[in-house]
Amino acid sequence: MRKGLLVIALFCLIGCVSAQDIQLVSPNKTGGKPLMEALSDRQSHRSFEKKDLPAQTLSDLLWAAYGFNRDDKRTVPSSQNKQEIDLYVMFSNGVYLYDAKANVLKLVEKGDFRKALGQANISDNASLSLVYVANLDKASNREAGFIDSGFIAQNVYLYCASAGLGSVVRASFTRPGLHEALKLTDKQEITIVQPVGYIK
Ligand SMILES: Cc1cc2nc3c(=O)[nH]c(=O)nc-3n(C[C@H](O)[C@H](O)[C@H](O)COP(=O)(O)O)c2cc1C
Repeated sequence: MRKGLLVIALFCLIGCVSAQDIQLVSPNKTGGKPLMEALSDRQSHRSFEKKDLPAQTLSDLLWAAYGFNRDDKRTVPSSQNKQEIDLYVMFSNGVYLYDAKANVLKLVEKGDFRKALGQANISDNASLSLVYVANLDKASNREAGFIDSGFIAQNVYLYCASAGLGSVVRASFTRPGLHEALKLTDKQEITIVQPVGYIK
């Protein structure tokens, strides 16, 4: 009996990572190109080879984008430290929410929702697309959601430049379709999307 309880307690301690969530590997916070070289290489790319990112690259990308680099603060600033952006990750087979504290991608919905991203010529070959969602209940104001998204997007650009990947920030996407696919409420607003992939 006691052994059974111990197993349940251990399971909850592990953080209730459901079988369908993706536990990310620990991000590698060292290395990469020097900043000035990454800045020199930063640019938008729109043609990608159909290829998945390795587990380490995926984790590193997400940490660079929006991970915690101190106890409760992240690799990006945010207006009044509201941290109102939720970072969704769309693959060809489902949409996940990046939980930076747990270092887990939490399954939101299984299925291929890339059509809602628009510009299929860009998004269909990308390894993934990041979808930036502002939580308007948390945000200090609506504009902050767009500004704070920009910081994350630039981190993604710089990580990609450093890692030899390509990316493009995009504001043209099918807003209602994407809102529905992500099961968002009227207190959540999509600001931008950003495919990432191997440059063709
Ligand atoms: C707010 C914003 C929205 C953008 N939306 C799109 C878009 O919908 N589609 C696209 O192909 N590029 C989009 N871009 C990328 C710009 O076209 C690109 O940054 C610009 O042409 C400069 O090129 P560079 O990023 O290579 O320097 C967007 C950029 C920004 C900052």
